[in-house]
Amino acid sequence: MTASTATPPRTAADDDWWRSAVVYQVYVRSFADSDGDGTGDLQGIRQRLPYLRDLGVDALWLTPFYTSPMVDGGYDVADYRDVDPMFGTLTDFDAMITDAHALGLRIIVDLVPNHTSSAHRWFTAALAAGPGSPERARYLFAEGRGAHGELPPNDWESIFGGPAWTRVPDGEWYLHLFDPAQPDLNWRHPEVRAEFEDVLRFWLDRGVDGFRIDVAHGMIKAEGLPDVGFSTLTIGQRQVELLGKGRLPYFDQDEVHEIYRAWRPILDSYPGGRMAVAEAWAETPQRLARYIGADELHQAFSFDFLDATWSADSFRKVVDTALAESTVVGAPTTWVLSNHDKQRHVTRYGDGVEGLRRARAASLLMLALPGCAYLYQGEELGLPEVLDLPDELRQDPAFLRTGESRDGCRVPIPWSGELAPYGFGPAGSELSWLPAPATWAALSVTAQTGLPGSTLELYRAALRIRHEHPALAVDAGGVTWLESGPGVLAFSRAAGATVLTCVVNLSGAPVPIDGYGEPLVASEALTGQGSGHLLPVDAAAWLERR
Ligand code: NOJ
Repeated sequence: MTASTATPPRTAADDDWWRSAVVYQVYVRSFADSDGDGTGDLQGIRQRLPYLRDLGVDALWLTPFYTSPMVDGGYDVADYRDVDPMFGTLTDFDAMITDAHALGLRIIVDLVPNHTSSAHRWFTAALAAGPGSPERARYLFAEGRGAHGELPPNDWESIFGGPAWTRVPDGEWYLHLFDPAQPDLNWRHPEVRAEFEDVLRFWLDRGVDGFRIDVAHGMIKAEGLPDVGFSTLTIGQRQVELLGKGRLPYFDQDEVHEIYRAWRPILDSYPGGRMAVAEAWAETPQRLARYIGADELHQAFSFDFLDATWSADSFRKVVDTALAESTVVGAPTTWVLSNHDKQRHVTRYGDGVEGLRRARAASLLMLALPGCAYLYQGEELGLPEVLDLPDELRQDPAFLRTGESRDGCRVPIPWSGELAPYGFGPAGSELSWLPAPATWAALSVTAQTGLPGSTLELYRAALRIRHEHPALAVDAGGVTWLESGPGVLAFSRAAGATVLTCVVNLSGAPVPIDGYGEPLVASEALTGQGSGHLLPVDAAAWLERR
């Protein structure tokens, strides 16, 4: 790293960086492979940091890279204080974060506190120690129902399908809201709380700028472990369908907030604006709001875009709802179009040429909104979901239980070259843990760099404007919806007399846009120059008026 790339020292004003940041989610296993074993790693990220700096993002969120049997892609942690050898070493982590900071990039790591791996030393000790032991008290072991305890202790279902309980040879059952290899911790146990406070400090001491809290709404279960009252077996509806819509005895219990109130002073005791973002689901915006604030966490993901359909009404509702929620919580919202758990937005919006056009337009919409935007690796390349992975290669533990798999959005990134895996590993390496499609050569970073109209150049341009334009600054005005025809969304944001308008055409015909100002960037080439600019269908543009 040369001195010329270093950023100036941070100031207290930087502490609020997360309010308007663009955070790039790195799915570590699939980002860049430095050693040619077919798996992405920390050195791979380190080598690609200049790419991320040039893309114009502010921070990286790294999915779990800790010691793990990788049953759930690393969300099954066996040692919270070490790096899995497949991803590198702690020394690699230190080198990566040092370089990232020198380039002005912040690092958010994933914390998985709801459950450990079944390979964690606490769980193996719990199995060995037997019923009633102090070792079992760190998890949620219980007697079964039925004359011989042969039925699970209650009717709770795993998010990955099937019962949330597994019986061990001595007859007790343990709770796992996800895979059986992910036993849930007992967060009423003081040792569990002390352990995670120490884990927070461990990574804060190594310089991390924040944490993404996995299943942040799940750590406390209702006293007595009461039945939900219905299940897939009884009424055919999966309990998980209530997520974000109703109450479940294993989610969003009031006591969970005590945990975050204990964590916040720890975060605040470190300089430089250390933050935490919750992956939390709650019944109402008011209940979600309780996770955020000066004495709890800084942000909670707003997931509404993930379920929005390609229509002006649907998008308008997402934006209005999220902005209203952000008023309730008193913190800027977070926008997410894609992540490692959802089908990529190119494919959700129709796949192929149409899906890509719409995805690019949706991204311009998102990046013009106030708040923090979370990008998922590869969306800047316009990657689609890989729908035809052979079943035997799929690794998502949910696949075997539900037939639904998240592997298609986790295919390694194409960096360069004509043949898969497109420079994912070092020169000559042909390995990648999931195969990339034969059609991805044109989507690689090298193929798109400098190519006018490419998705990568569109993201670069949009991120540059987002950083520089006063109307998109954190303290600029909010969203003002403008009159527009059916199927067209138009909103503006202002800084004094400088107004930036974002127009999205979800109608079936081109729309005139000159009334909104001078075009700054558009997701498709504008037409009709002579008689005034027209925004094509399935496209978005930013325009400026001073
Ligand atoms: C949410 C994560 O995003 C997902 O990938 C994981 O499977 C579950 N939490 C369980 O940790």
